[in-house]
Amino acid sequence: MCGIVGYVGNRPVVDILLDGLEQLEYRGYDSSGVALKLEDEIKVYKAEGKLINLRNTLKPHISEIMSSTMGIGHIRWATHGAPTLLNAHPHTCNCGNLVLVHNGIIENYKELREKLSAKGCVFRSQTDTEAVAHLVASKYAETKDLTEAVRLAAQEIEGAYALCVMHNDYKNTLVVTKRNAPLLVGIGEGEFYVASDVPAIIKHTKKALYLNDNQIATLTPDKMLLIDKDGVEVPQKIELLPWEPVALSKMGYKHFMLKEIHEQPDVIRNILVGKLHAPDEPIILNEVKLNKDTLKNLNRIQIIACGTSLHAAMVGKYLIESFCGIAVDVEASSEYIYRKTVTDAHTLVIGVSQSGETADTLTAIKQAKAKGSHILIITNRPDSAMAREADSLVPVNAGIEVSVAATKSYTAQLMAFYLLALYMAEIKGSVENSTMTSLKEEMMLLPQKIDQILANTDDVQKCARAFANTKDFIYIARGINFPTALEGALKLKEISYINATGYPAGELKHGPIAMLDETMPVLSILMKGSVYEKLLSNSEEAKARNARMIALTNSSDAKLVDLFEHILYVPDVQELFSPLIAIVPLQLLAYYIAEFLGKDVDQPRNLAKSVTVE
Ligand code: G6P
Repeated sequence: MCGIVGYVGNRPVVDILLDGLEQLEYRGYDSSGVALKLEDEIKVYKAEGKLINLRNTLKPHISEIMSSTMGIGHIRWATHGAPTLLNAHPHTCNCGNLVLVHNGIIENYKELREKLSAKGCVFRSQTDTEAVAHLVASKYAETKDLTEAVRLAAQEIEGAYALCVMHNDYKNTLVVTKRNAPLLVGIGEGEFYVASDVPAIIKHTKKALYLNDNQIATLTPDKMLLIDKDGVEVPQKIELLPWEPVALSKMGYKHFMLKEIHEQPDVIRNILVGKLHAPDEPIILNEVKLNKDTLKNLNRIQIIACGTSLHAAMVGKYLIESFCGIAVDVEASSEYIYRKTVTDAHTLVIGVSQSGETADTLTAIKQAKAKGSHILIITNRPDSAMAREADSLVPVNAGIEVSVAATKSYTAQLMAFYLLALYMAEIKGSVENSTMTSLKEEMMLLPQKIDQILANTDDVQKCARAFANTKDFIYIARGINFPTALEGALKLKEISYINATGYPAGELKHGPIAMLDETMPVLSILMKGSVYEKLLSNSEEAKARNARMIALTNSSDAKLVDLFEHILYVPDVQELFSPLIAIVPLQLLAYYIAEFLGKDVDQPRNLAKSVTVE
């Protein structure tokens, strides 16, 4: 992953780079660094860990570096080489005159390294990126032209990259290029900004150019030259970014995650505005561009996603199959892209992604698109790379999610699936009118039910304290809440580092039950409906092996009190909507356990919010 920024213009560059990097911290926080052009030299500063460490490193040098008006910056999520100072970007050639930052993975870096070492280059880091620094420098030695050096080097690189390069011979020139990694150039008055993502530049400009793969832009304060891989100048497609700068604030909450959990009722209310006016009115989903006849005759859907979005996709499968009777396959994007998939022009392919940038999902939908499938994207970022590939774009409008652990974007994705499944069912006529009305009534009540859960979190906090020191956690559920078990376990793993696993409860007896003893908590997602009794039996089986039982339920069944040590009650809800209600206490449980353990809730170790490498 990683995030890159750059600036060339007439203003002091240090704060522009640091503020930009702060906005990109969601992409990684293993180390950070900047390179600044001064009168006769380029100065590089780096720090391990979070950006604050780089800010502190720069403080003693401020008077010396304030005059710089050109620079590049990087925030790292380690792929090749440990998260050390030595491996932090920017990377330089041996003489230090050529400096660059990189986001992506250079797949042939070993070959490049051997070739360049044989030519006398001395490698100092374990990164793939350093090979590119030496490679561009070697091309520069031949051509004495930075743009040409980058262009020639790019032809020898395999893999994914967004690069921002500067050279000490150039007082005010940045050269940028990309392939399969995001990069945009912000256009100001006599200045250019470079960034992996919009938040890094939106404070300064709304005018931007998204670089296409293999294009190379040469930026000087008053001019951008854009060429293709053959060196031919290409037209510049400048866009107005549909963004307003937002001041990200915790609004009094201790962490962004807690704030984002509490935002969920409003997120759901906002999603419903304009899409569902009343239970007896049809769902409006103009974003779906498939014509109605095609929709009616669809017999296959594939949904592709990663992480939390994959869990939303699993609920989506359940909904579409239940409401519309269309067969749905769900697959992790990283699995989809390396096998022979049966996707064709008659398949609707749905990509789900909070960021719209996840490399695996992006590659998967590009593959499906090449096979002629209609691509429907559900994303929180309508300006993302995935959105640009979409035939139908269903934005989820959850607002910026800062915490690495996804919460409100998950419930927003679920809402998108409810709307989509019911919209399709209305077109197909596959759900009876009276049932449809009652489903819509229930859907409109969801925000206030979540409000109710959030109004009193005492029981969840008590449960969190009781189990914070456990090593393992098992979540069991059946049917539509199996994905809820997976998502609840994922939340706990991500932010508390407790080994948590979600199982379909019926599978417990086929292996996992061997792990149960008096130290093992088993949380049963016991929502009323078709599998309630079955799950109750599975919970009994776990209890019989002395597991510490927790229930998450909307049932007032008196026998639960004997079976479970802790019971987390949620408001009553129709079974098909229960994933949206059941996930909220699980998000809170993970949050309060991590908080109790003193973990870095919003920026857990080893993770990043947007994973732009395969
Ligand atoms: C990362 C994040 C997860 C997220 C996953 C998929 O691993 O840490 O929270 O679910 O990527 O991201 P996407 O943006 O495609 O939903």
